[in-house]
Amino acid sequence: MWPYPRILAHRGGGTLAPENTYAGLRCGMQAGFRAIEFDVMLARDGVPVLMHDPGLGRTVKGSGSVFEHDAGDLVAMDAGAWFGPAFVGEPVPLFTEFARRCREQGVWMNIEIKPAPGFEAETGAVVAALAADLFAAELAAGDMARVPLLSSFSDVALASARLAAPQLPRACLISALGPDWELRARALDAVAIHTNHQHLGPQMARAVKETGLGLFCYTVNDPGRARTLLDWGVDAFCTDRIDLIGPDFA
Ligand code: G3P
Ligand code: MG
Repeated sequence: MWPYPRILAHRGGGTLAPENTYAGLRCGMQAGFRAIEFDVMLARDGVPVLMHDPGLGRTVKGSGSVFEHDAGDLVAMDAGAWFGPAFVGEPVPLFTEFARRCREQGVWMNIEIKPAPGFEAETGAVVAALAADLFAAELAAGDMARVPLLSSFSDVALASARLAAPQLPRACLISALGPDWELRARALDAVAIHTNHQHLGPQMARAVKETGLGLFCYTVNDPGRARTLLDWGVDAFCTDRIDLIGPDFA
């Protein structure tokens, strides 16, 4: 059974705030969400920050790669101006500070490990170890519904996360499910498959559920589609349209 919330705000606040920022978290919480997905990448000094793209330019000004800058430099960059004047000065969050904030606020996390190319193993290990430290009390108490779920498109990152913190649950992010999805999930001792709903049909949804794995979809922005997916047995999904699909939609 899926022990986690069913509706998550994608990248913090969906389309209502700049992605992967404190403003996004606040926005999601104002909409009633107590569960979010966000992306984590390593800076040059090995410190994880919230970031989706490996290259600067879209959400923060500048050029080159995230891994060419130390975390301190990235934090000083503006991750909100691109979205609108109301968000000017919004910092790039440090992962540990952001995750601590979520924990304090009772916001459940799907932490997407988003390694820059070539940093898969390192990113998985660092993020998993830090998350396990932060949730040591919950892990010791067996309070697994509060513990974050780690996910990644990179099997290398997930394997590394497993080595670093085997007690943290993992999910395989697979855009379109091919013939090997179950093998990959089992090899990583994953608890769930996270997939693009656009490539999912009712038969595949049933096949995943029959294995006992959890089934999560991204990124579902149409309420009708959301209802269909839940009817197929999808356990949970994230949405950008937190204005249309609320936390109690399920
Ligand atoms: O974790 C689900 C979803 O966020 C994966 O795709 O590119 O939005 O990070 P992306
Ligand atoms: Mg993501």
